[in-house]
Amino acid sequence: MTAHEAGDRPAKSRAEVRDIYEENAARFERFGWLEERLVGRYRERLFSRAEGRVLDVACGTGPNFAHLPERTDLVGVDLSEAMLRGAARTARDLDRDADLRVADAEALPFEDDAFDTVVSALSTCTFPDPVAVLREMDRVCAPDGRILLFEHGRSSVPALARLQDRFASRHFERMGCRWNQEPVDVVREAGLRVEGVRRDVLGLFTSLVVVPTA
Ligand SMILES: C[S@@+](CC[C@H](N)C(=O)[O-])C[C@H]1O[C@@H](n2cnc3c(N)ncnc32)[C@H](O)[C@@H]1O
Repeated sequence: MTAHEAGDRPAKSRAEVRDIYEENAARFERFGWLEERLVGRYRERLFSRAEGRVLDVACGTGPNFAHLPERTDLVGVDLSEAMLRGAARTARDLDRDADLRVADAEALPFEDDAFDTVVSALSTCTFPDPVAVLREMDRVCAPDGRILLFEHGRSSVPALARLQDRFASRHFERMGCRWNQEPVDVVREAGLRVEGVRRDVLGLFTSLVVVPTA
């Protein structure tokens, strides 16, 4: 067991998380089409609102890119070089420019208020310290901008939620992902205001519009 506790949340180290995604990057690329069939419509609904200079935090292999308006300027960061190589291929296939960098989301290498929109998908469950990352997203997002999060969490269907709880530690050990973490709680813990929240697919997926602090 390599997990340690960050608050009351299990967390792996950054190096452990990076290694997991280095190993699994090819699988993310291979099954990207399936994931797009399952949740692409929710990414589209949320991320089509993005404007101006956009930061995709923990962009992975770039499944958000197709859902960001073409007029936006895209910057993507991730811990894993292998995931970022996939992101570069995704951007190339979409014929769009993307500034892709290896960076830790807990210490983003950008000035305060540098982005009009900060987006992130299916990643707060994986960040070793998701509250610290949300505060960083807040720091780099302009006060009149928005933070858009597409996350998974504990189902609103009790039987399914119980099943998630039962297998949560096994999944965490394998993927470093807390799949029953409630994303709205994490956002509130970071001191940020949720302007809009929508749940889909038996409450498994949550789309959040978050207001940065001034
Ligand atoms: C489940 S994947 C999601 C990727 C992508 N956003 C998507 O929607 O498929 C989680 C990603 O978070 C990245 N990640 C985890 N912790 C990170 C950190 N502290 N800083 C930057 N990236 C991180 C991983 O490398 C991985 O690419």
